[in-house]
Amino acid sequence: MAELTNPERRMLRAMQARDGEWTLSEILETCDWDDQAIAVSAGHGLSNHGYVKISESSEKSVILGSEGEKAAENGLLEAKIWDFIQSKGNATMKDLSDKFERHEAGPGVGLLKRLGVSLEGGSFSYDDAESISKTISERTAFIQSPSIDNPLIDHFKGRKNLIEIVEMVTRTWKITSTGKSVPSSDLEEVVKIAEITPELLQSQDWKNAEFRPYDVSLEASMPRSGRSHPMQALIERIRSIFLEMGFSELVDDYVQTAGWNMDALFIPQDHPAREMQDTFYLDNPKQIKLDPKLLKDWKAIHEHGGDTESTGWGGEFDPEISQKGLLRTHTTVNTIQYLAENPEQSCRVFAIDRVFRKESIDKTHLPEFHQIEGIIMEPGANLGMLVSTLKTFYQKMGYPEVRVRPAYFPYTEPSLEVEVKWRGRWLELGGAGIFRPEVTEPLGIKDPVCAWGMGLERLAMLVLGLDDIRQLYISDLEWLRNQPIL
Ligand code: PHE
Repeated sequence: MAELTNPERRMLRAMQARDGEWTLSEILETCDWDDQAIAVSAGHGLSNHGYVKISESSEKSVILGSEGEKAAENGLLEAKIWDFIQSKGNATMKDLSDKFERHEAGPGVGLLKRLGVSLEGGSFSYDDAESISKTISERTAFIQSPSIDNPLIDHFKGRKNLIEIVEMVTRTWKITSTGKSVPSSDLEEVVKIAEITPELLQSQDWKNAEFRPYDVSLEASMPRSGRSHPMQALIERIRSIFLEMGFSELVDDYVQTAGWNMDALFIPQDHPAREMQDTFYLDNPKQIKLDPKLLKDWKAIHEHGGDTESTGWGGEFDPEISQKGLLRTHTTVNTIQYLAENPEQSCRVFAIDRVFRKESIDKTHLPEFHQIEGIIMEPGANLGMLVSTLKTFYQKMGYPEVRVRPAYFPYTEPSLEVEVKWRGRWLELGGAGIFRPEVTEPLGIKDPVCAWGMGLERLAMLVLGLDDIRQLYISDLEWLRNQPIL
């Protein structure tokens, strides 16, 4: 037998005791409930089980509107004015205006005129006082106890706010033959335990107790608890993907030298991205001392290619520029230093960290944002490995369609751009490539290095479906609360 709730059991017991139609009030009375909702929901439950049949009939009825209620208490307008005219004997319009408000006198006279009262030369006259009184008292009787069958309904329908016609649905409940056959032993009300307490567990009572099952289909309110910011949650997710793929995380400072941020990466000293309008140079520290040996090596590489086959950029390399303090413009500044410190050890390293560029703020740009940086260094590392690593990463993020296109960076060869397909469009998410010998040789790196740097906020916009990057960093509590938990 299907499991019944206690109210359902009680209601079915009552119905087994008396066959026939039950009205709501009969159920309430017999079951000793004062909450209609209990009866209605028990009735629904029983009907779902096929134990009870619900019949509905709808009926029109009339109730008083706001003006009708006033009229029932103080009399209809035409009645009040009629009484006044009659009590006065020879009433004039002037008398009426002294006694009644303008908004009453006008419409009141209108009503009486339709009943046979005439107004000539400012005074009232009528022929058949008796029939007027009769009509008015019929109307009064109606307002006192309105009924849908009364023909006066048509008259009152035309008057403002006196009555309202409402449709009432009446339900009755009747036990079915299946309902009758439910054994009464199944209809005993049981005490079901909703909450398990230490006391219950310590006592023996739990052995015979029945437990209330969870109803997972019920509407529940959304708990408003603390949670990670969507950006933080996304960072965690990316972190766990790279960790899972065998990478270690690198965390480093964002105050760096132009030397490591640019010279080490063979970015020419006259490169436009180095200009003040693109890079935040620091007043403090304005200068950070670098190892003279490094500066010498970079100078050689930049000016003529050093010991490599490269011809370098030519021109004159200024070691002073290398020692300028700045806010890193990319996280490649950190991976390259990691390689410089560990030039011979194969590695897979990633970083998710903040970078700075002098961008004016708009829908897709922020002066402060994050990059997802990574390197793979090992004997035989190659472009295919780089591309498949990036594809795997985006696949794990939920973007299966990834493509790469040729690109240019001063520090990689070949270089490529990574794009993912989102809502039918290809979106550029970052750059990648294999570090050039001009970068690796001065640092003593022998094995090929795959490297990439991708925008985190761009990816966040895809994941969170945003078209304005600024949404990520404003304290919009409503938006934050409604973000899916990634
Ligand atoms: N540093 C590049 C950027 O900021 C991305 C990149 C990293 C490209 C590593 C190639 C290799 O856009």
